[in-house]
Amino acid sequence: MDSGRTQPHRGSMIRTLHVETHGARIAVHCAGKGPLALLVHGYPLDHRMWLDLLGSRAAEHRTLAAVDLRGHGCSQQHEPQGCAEPRLDMDLHAADLAAVVHQLGGGTADLVGLSMGGYATLALAAAHPQLLRTMALVDTRAAADSEPARAAREAAIATVVERGRTAIADAMLPKLLAPGADPFVGARIRTMIESQPVETIVADLRGLRDRPDRTGLLPGLRMPVLVVVGEQDAITPPAEATAMAATIPGARLAVVPRCGHMTPMEAPGAFADLLCDFWAG
Ligand code: MLT
Repeated sequence: MDSGRTQPHRGSMIRTLHVETHGARIAVHCAGKGPLALLVHGYPLDHRMWLDLLGSRAAEHRTLAAVDLRGHGCSQQHEPQGCAEPRLDMDLHAADLAAVVHQLGGGTADLVGLSMGGYATLALAAAHPQLLRTMALVDTRAAADSEPARAAREAAIATVVERGRTAIADAMLPKLLAPGADPFVGARIRTMIESQPVETIVADLRGLRDRPDRTGLLPGLRMPVLVVVGEQDAITPPAEATAMAATIPGARLAVVPRCGHMTPMEAPGAFADLLCDFWAG
């Protein structure tokens, strides 16, 4: 781990650290004080989706650490994973997250994962449950891709290779946000999508397509779990989140009004309150 630059953000400082893992240098952007909470972004985004949370009252209760998964944001991947078909597997992300928890959290952390970040968080819970003090699963699911969803991943790979990242952003944005969402939030998401390398987006899509079903893990989870979903989430709808929460012993469920798939950006204040209440027990 080495310490990097700091930058001011709404009265708190963001400190950027780097953790060397198997074949990657993972960037982690931290604000606040207290026990470590690891924030894991969705596809094809990066730590910037958590900037509102880093500047919120949640930073008074936790050291909020927004990770850039390998290949995303400021994280570098030294070697491509697999020569024939580079793929960013959820288990690979989980191994990176485990390294970050060991190096920054002393072996335990609160995990907060949105969508793909939730898939990676569940992979971490499957491999190393002892590393998770608590887990917040946000606008995500435990099930694997259906056959039509796998076919849609192939179509998305063709789209990004043939027409570029703007075409991916154009296709995703209407599904990510609730109708009537702040256009500035949409603009921030577009900037993030359009700044990820095409290679990363393709490798993400393969990892999403091939990820395993984790529904069998849910009844055996022993850490406190919060499930959060936007009332109008079109990608991982409330019915699915409700069913997921029902199979996790003692899980809390929060359905956030007027939000789509990007609850932490669409309702940052309500989201910070939910996390603070959850962490307070
Ligand atoms: C995400 O937000 O990470 C993606 O929508 C996840 C997915 O497509 O399964």
